[in-house]
Amino acid sequence: MSAPSAIAILDFGGQYTQLIARRIREARVFSVVLRPDAPAEEIRRWNPAGLILSGGPQSVYERGAPAPSAGAGDLGVPVLGLCYGMQWMAHVAGGAVGGAEGREFGRATANVDATSALFAGLEDEQTVWMSHGDSVLAPPPGFRVIASTPSTPIAGLESPERRWYGIQFHPEVRHTVHGTQILENFLFRICGAKPEWTMAAFRESKVEAIRRQAGEGAVICALSGGVDSSVTALLLREALGDRVHPILVDHGLMRAHERQQVVEAFARLGIEVDAVDARELFLSRLAGVTDPEEKRRIIGRTFIEVFENEAKRIPDARYLAQGTLYPDVIESVSIKGPSAVIKTHHNVGGLPERLGFELIEPVRELFKDEVRLLGAELGLPREFLARHPFPGPGLAVRIPGEVTRERIEILQRADEIVLDEIRKAGLYDAIAQAFAVLLPVRSVGVMGDGRTHDFVLAVRAVQTTDFMTADWFRMPHEVLDAISRRVVGSVRGINRVVYDVTSKPPATIEWE
Ligand code: XMP
Repeated sequence: MSAPSAIAILDFGGQYTQLIARRIREARVFSVVLRPDAPAEEIRRWNPAGLILSGGPQSVYERGAPAPSAGAGDLGVPVLGLCYGMQWMAHVAGGAVGGAEGREFGRATANVDATSALFAGLEDEQTVWMSHGDSVLAPPPGFRVIASTPSTPIAGLESPERRWYGIQFHPEVRHTVHGTQILENFLFRICGAKPEWTMAAFRESKVEAIRRQAGEGAVICALSGGVDSSVTALLLREALGDRVHPILVDHGLMRAHERQQVVEAFARLGIEVDAVDARELFLSRLAGVTDPEEKRRIIGRTFIEVFENEAKRIPDARYLAQGTLYPDVIESVSIKGPSAVIKTHHNVGGLPERLGFELIEPVRELFKDEVRLLGAELGLPREFLARHPFPGPGLAVRIPGEVTRERIEILQRADEIVLDEIRKAGLYDAIAQAFAVLLPVRSVGVMGDGRTHDFVLAVRAVQTTDFMTADWFRMPHEVLDAISRRVVGSVRGINRVVYDVTSKPPATIEWE
């Protein structure tokens, strides 16, 4: 999309690239992350008010070190180099970059020159966040030094004539106390960008874009009840009215009452959902299967088959809408290459090619929290907006070993209690994801006068922002106690509850 004033970020593979993009959007300027070597024409298409070169793990003087493509640095808009980005600037402009001295990690005190537009309004001494091996050793001709720390004498550079600015530290990280102001100085004072990026503006321009893309055709979308697919469906509905057909495949692996809740919530929003009851089919395909990857593959394939049959019944369906999010898109443009496949994630992957659909991905430019804001803007009820993520293969990956009807029912009942107690304790929003796992292990217990030999339930709750790493949630003992008593007291088949105290890594969030 061509926003009135966007910032393009070239991603050199730094760990903070997504944060840069977010901070800019928090300042209400649209930002887009592009490959490090994105051609100048591609950058120009975004109509940027400025360009940011991200940090990265390499050294600019190494062979094969990533660099912007020819002309990218001279589009006539200001450029801000951060860490590796600044070193690249210094390197190509004729300065010296080296690695011997000045490695610096963590907090540092920088002296900044407030006469530079980048540091306008700041005190001379600033707490900043450093994370670098290399440093600029000599500034290029025409550049002046605008920041320094005790171990990095050249921690900031500028050439206002060329409109190139560089800083060695990371303004996007919260530990850089006035990082936001530095970024805003770049956006508003240096680039002249306007703080016009809002969800209302996004909604309007997206609706128009969807109308242009879909023409007269009908669109189907796979609804899971999660935030991303729900927001996608609402946006499409606004753009195309009755030409949108949301399909919910009930594989029988959803949480208790979930299908009904989703159908009803959408009905209240005036959207009719086509809920397909495929529970028996999935169960029969999963019978006797215990290998986690095999379970995921079967569910993925069966999902496609059911969805395909359903889609065929909708005349004129030419488009498939998906709730792809920006982090997925960024992962695939970055130079880091695809991360190792640890688990086969199924969603609706593979569908568009098979069915000859054209894809519509209206939220692919948004981060998760932005999708939530957009959902609120579109009137999605709060219980949907604040929902914890739920995996496509559903409860199947929370029942290690064979999935049977009995086990699904036991887990649904226990899971409902776990979430209810967490909500009652007011902790739901403090936790990124909480759920129950039914272990296919029987332990001995005693209830009343009798001996029991029943399943074990594991409770898992994690805190994370990106789901790539996660810490186990320090659940208050009273809440664990309430969960344990209620589950064992009311769910037949479970006589013991344990709490998972493993972080990711080394464990994953789901058990399979
Ligand atoms: P893991 O278990 O890999 O999970 O640490 C990370 C996040 O991804 C979710 N997850 C999935 N989501 N389809 C999805 O849509 C899947 O197949 C899938 N597997 C895991 C998981 O719930 C957690 O939020």
